[in-house]
Parts: sequence; C-alpha cells; structure tokens
Amino acid sequence: MVAVLDFGSQYTQLIARRIRELKIYCEIYPYNVSESTLREKNTTAIILSGGPGHITESEITFSPDPEIFNGRYKILGICFGMQVSAKLHGANIVHGEIREYGKTVFYPEKDIIFEGIENRTVVWMSHYDQVENLPENFVSIGRTANCRIAAFKNQQGSVYGFQFHPEVIHTRHGKTMLKNFLYKVAGLKPDWTASSMVEIAKKEIATRIGKSRVVCALSGGVDSSTLSVILHQVAGDRSLAVFVNNGLLRKNEEKEVMEALGDLVNMKYVDASEIFIERLKRVIDPEEKRKIIGRTFIEVFEKEAKSFGADFLAQGTLYPDLIESISVFGGPTSRIKTHHNVGGLPEKMKLKLVEPFKYLFKDEVRKIAKKIGLPEKLIQRHPFPGPGLAVRIIGEIDREKLEILKEVDAIYIDELRKANLYRKIWQAFAVLLPIKSVGIMGDQRTYQYVVALRAVTSTDGMTADWAKIPSNILENISNRIVNEIKAINRVVYDITSKPPATIEWE
Ligand code: XMP
Repeated sequence: MVAVLDFGSQYTQLIARRIRELKIYCEIYPYNVSESTLREKNTTAIILSGGPGHITESEITFSPDPEIFNGRYKILGICFGMQVSAKLHGANIVHGEIREYGKTVFYPEKDIIFEGIENRTVVWMSHYDQVENLPENFVSIGRTANCRIAAFKNQQGSVYGFQFHPEVIHTRHGKTMLKNFLYKVAGLKPDWTASSMVEIAKKEIATRIGKSRVVCALSGGVDSSTLSVILHQVAGDRSLAVFVNNGLLRKNEEKEVMEALGDLVNMKYVDASEIFIERLKRVIDPEEKRKIIGRTFIEVFEKEAKSFGADFLAQGTLYPDLIESISVFGGPTSRIKTHHNVGGLPEKMKLKLVEPFKYLFKDEVRKIAKKIGLPEKLIQRHPFPGPGLAVRIIGEIDREKLEILKEVDAIYIDELRKANLYRKIWQAFAVLLPIKSVGIMGDQRTYQYVVALRAVTSTDGMTADWAKIPSNILENISNRIVNEIKAINRVVYDITSKPPATIEWE
C-alpha cells in the first residue's frame, strides 16, 4: 500500500486519485500518523503532500513522525512535503527571493524518476519557501530559474522531494514522474484493477454481514445500482434493494431502473408517489420540501427493512466523504443545502452498517459498474438529486406540473444525446418556473408556463460552469419543447456558473 500523508494541501485527494489511476492502492492519513500504524498496514511507499505548514530555523509547524525516514519506505515529498523531509535531515528552509507560482520551466537531471522525460519540461509551482541547502547525502536532481533545488533525492534513492506539484495536470509529465516513483523507485506492481476492487468490496460485505440479511436503498444512480448488484452477488436473497418511487422521478425512470437491474438484484419496488405528493402540497420552501421528502423516504424504507428482517444496512459511502471526516484540517464545509441523500438513514433504525465502497473514488465505482455489466446508459447518467423534480419545480408542486416537467426534461435530454453533448455535460435538466408569460401561436394569444434549461460542466459538482451549448442546438430544443408541450410557450437558458449560483435552482 501507498500512504499519502495529508499536510492540508488542497491537492491531497488529487494525489490519491492519481496513484489509483496508476492502478496502485493508496490511502490518505493525517500527516502525523505513527510509523507503527503505517508498518501494520504493510506500507511500501509514502507520499507527503504539500500544505500550509511553515518551517523556521527552530520550528516545524506540522511534523510527520520522524521514524518514517527509518529506511523501510520509499518516500516522495511534494512541496511542503519536500521541505519537511529536508528539514528533518538537517537542511535549512528559507523564503525564496520571489514566489514561484504557476507553470515554470524545470530542468531535470538524469534520474530513474524522470525516465522518459526530456531535459526541459514544464511543472506547476506554488511556493514561497524553498530548500536552501542539500542535507548530507542528498543530491539535487532538478532546478528552475528561481529554485536551485527544485527536486532532490538521497543517495540511497529512498527519499525523493519535488518542490513542484506532479499531481496537477499543468505539470506536463507529472503522471510519468509519479509512475516512475511508484513502479521503478518503489517497485510496486499495478494490481489495483476493477477486478481487485470488486473482490475487496465483496470480501468486505461477506466478512461483515456473515449469514445476516442486508438491505439497501436503490435510487438508480450508479453508486446505489452498483452496490445493489454486488450485495446480491454476495448475499443473494438475503439482500434486498428497495426502490422507492416518490413520484418525483424523471420520465420512465422507474421502468428503466427495473429493466436494467431487475435480473441482477433482489429488488422491491414501492410506489409511494401518492403520499409524497400529498405531503408536498402547498409547500414552497425548498428546505421544507427536502425535509418532508427525507422523512417520508425514511418512513417508507424503514417499513420495508423491518418486514424483510434486515440486520444490516448497506450504504454507498465513498472515500471523499470519509476523507472529509478524517482530514486533519478538513471537516465538512458549510452546508448551503441540506442534501438529502438516500444513504443518510437514521441511527434509530438500529441497523448495523456495511460500506463496501468507503475506500473508493467515484470513478472507481464506475469502473466496477462496468466490470459487473451495468448498462452504459445507467453508468453515464447525470447525477440526480434525492428530492428529484421537487426541487426543479419552483414553488408549489402538483401532478400536472410534474407531468409537464417530465416531458420537457425528456425532450431536452433526448436532443442533447442526439447532438452528442450528453456525456460532455455534468448535469442537464429543465426547471419549471411558477410564472406564466404571454406568447403567440397560430395568430392566437397564449398565456403559459416558462421553462428554464440548465446545463453545467463540472468535475465534482462543487463548482460548475454553464455549458456553452451551440445556439442552433438550443434553438432546436426550444422549438421542440414549445411545439410538443402545450403548457409551455417560453424557454430560457440559464447562463450562471456556480458560484455564484448553485446547480439546482432550489
Ligand atoms: P447544488 O445545487 O448544491 O448541487 O449546486 C450540487 C450537486 O448536488 C445535487 N443536489 C442534491 N443531491 N440531494 C441530493 O442527493 C439534494 O437535496 C440535492 N440538492 C442538490 C445537484 O443535483 C448537484 O449534482
């Protein structure tokens, strides 16, 4: 295993993802994890992240356990990680004359870690402090115009340091450098593949639940679908995937999910749309909608879990959720919306938890999904919020509005697929506005609803840009919507990014 020690860098997760992309298993630890913990975990290599720490002549604000340098491990320090390694080996750290920030030309020496890279390349820098002098037994293996020791290693070749960030894409050969470190310096074999991920997830389920019964909530999203299939492969009829139709789903969604997964999981379909829609009557406030939907979902789900006699609840918690809670500096960022996720079921249910994906990133779950044969359409689906169309109908919800929105959304998505844009977009959907506007059709005055189209590009939903869909395609979509759906006579396109807007309108 590779351990990534988190010194508070904004890139720590990115380092971990890069390592996983290179098919090596890694985990993130707080910067001060003890060497004995790493030894117990069978760690081979350690990467020290960057971070906001500071080193003066007499003090290191964040210091790792010095024992990690006992020679057992191959170590790569990045940015602050390099500086702290240097300091612990007796070097001085100083403020550089100028702050290096952004793309910088880097001249690597000939070294195994730079194999396959030309002798002049571009790296991403973001630092003020730097290593002033080489520690004893260390050699410089690369420089930039303003940083004499931009990369170093010890003579045994067990400790490396980069002042730049190999994990960001702006470092042209960053991935090759990481690959050389993992495969050539540390001698690791790329064996973290979809099959090994499936095996590990299955083992986790089997050992945790034994002969007990396990239930999970199935939303049709890639995480819960993959989870349901794996549970079924391990526990067969002792597993149950509960699919609750809350009446707030997209057009034909329940049919599509049942068709895609009906044969692969032990599924219980519950049509609870009546009670959800009834309880949402006259509710306008988005947070109130979320609360009602969350509570109702739990009620419905709990009943099913009880009647199945479940002892365990399987949740699709992912590694980034876990990292937030273990990170030394992190912790969940302030909540703008109380996202109701079907996973967040209450403790009072007294079910024991099993979380087979808690060490996986989202793209790894997609790889598993592919491996176990989930249909491509389901894997590539845009994210869909737990409260569904309820937060896409601004203001009051009723069945008529739900039907209108379902139809509009279906046309929109259909056209995006035809234009080959669907997969380039993170999320696209329509929003029904609570206002009517005047129009003219066939010489007749109309007074109908306005619909807003939203499409964003993003990598994680935390920030997003509005998608620059070509105007002829937007025109086409608008024409189809107005022609095919009588209740709509006006279509607008949302051109706000996140921030300052959020992706959903409510
Ligand atoms: P916002 O609107 O906060 O959305 O920019 C970011 C991502 O989260 C989804 N979202 C939700 N997901 N329950 C969910 O499970 C919710 O209540 C919820 N609200 C927003 C949104 O679709 C986007 O992908």
